[in-house]
Amino acid sequence: MGGNWKMQITRLGEAERIAENIAAAIENVSSVEVFIAPSFNALNSVGLTITKTKLKLAGQNMHYHEKGAFTGEISVLSLIEAGCEYVILGHSERRRIFGEKDDTINQKVLLAINHGLKPVLCIGETAEERANGRTAEVNQSQLAGSLRNVSAQQLQNVIIAYEPVWAIDNKFLNPNIEIKPATPEQASEAHMIVRDWIRKHYGQESAANIPIIYGGSMKEKNATELLTIEDIDGGLVGGASLSAEAFVPIIRSAEKLAKGEDKFEWDSNTLRFNE
Ligand code: PGA
Repeated sequence: MGGNWKMQITRLGEAERIAENIAAAIENVSSVEVFIAPSFNALNSVGLTITKTKLKLAGQNMHYHEKGAFTGEISVLSLIEAGCEYVILGHSERRRIFGEKDDTINQKVLLAINHGLKPVLCIGETAEERANGRTAEVNQSQLAGSLRNVSAQQLQNVIIAYEPVWAIDNKFLNPNIEIKPATPEQASEAHMIVRDWIRKHYGQESAANIPIIYGGSMKEKNATELLTIEDIDGGLVGGASLSAEAFVPIIRSAEKLAKGEDKFEWDSNTLRFNE
């Protein structure tokens, strides 16, 4: 489970306090790995705040060169120094607002892996692409472009986040539509497309092992049904990760499901829940 704080927490003290609260609340969580991705300026101090806790740290982006004259960018080395284990790459806000393309995302993925940082590679279609029947094609082409030259062994350190752009709680990205989370059916279908693509290009073992997480308006009230789905291995949470009160119940849902304590059962053949 990842908390993507975007540019929402602008004060250091606030970032440290939220991180501390989340870390304290997940002390007993044993079956779910949790990270937060604060703004760059807060990485070092939040990193210090959460050392020796179970909460992990992630960058929200990084440059595809290790170092150099790249004004306004952040280096993989700085993320590592701050204590990051993960880095979110190719988020749709980066792709759609800042014009990031698969080839640079691909270079970032490779650089992160080579430095031992785990990329959380985001992919996803827009509302228009979905309406035009292009969901599979768009996601497959983002996978192909962003994972070029990534070996099966390297893929073991990659997490895929399927984040349909239309479900992301972002009015800037989605000015003219009603933003809602994917339904379990929509999410299940898309995750199967992603896993099938991995199977076809990397084989059954990679497909079985790679975590494919869902992002887009995940909240306490829809987390259990989304996370129940067989092909959904976790969540990338934006708005609902900005406080322990909102984020921790989602983490608890994931923990309960991971431990088999929840009764929901998702049938991938009928795309329905069995009671
Ligand atoms: P959201 O964002 O949960 O606020 O929709 C998810 C994301 O962009 O990762």
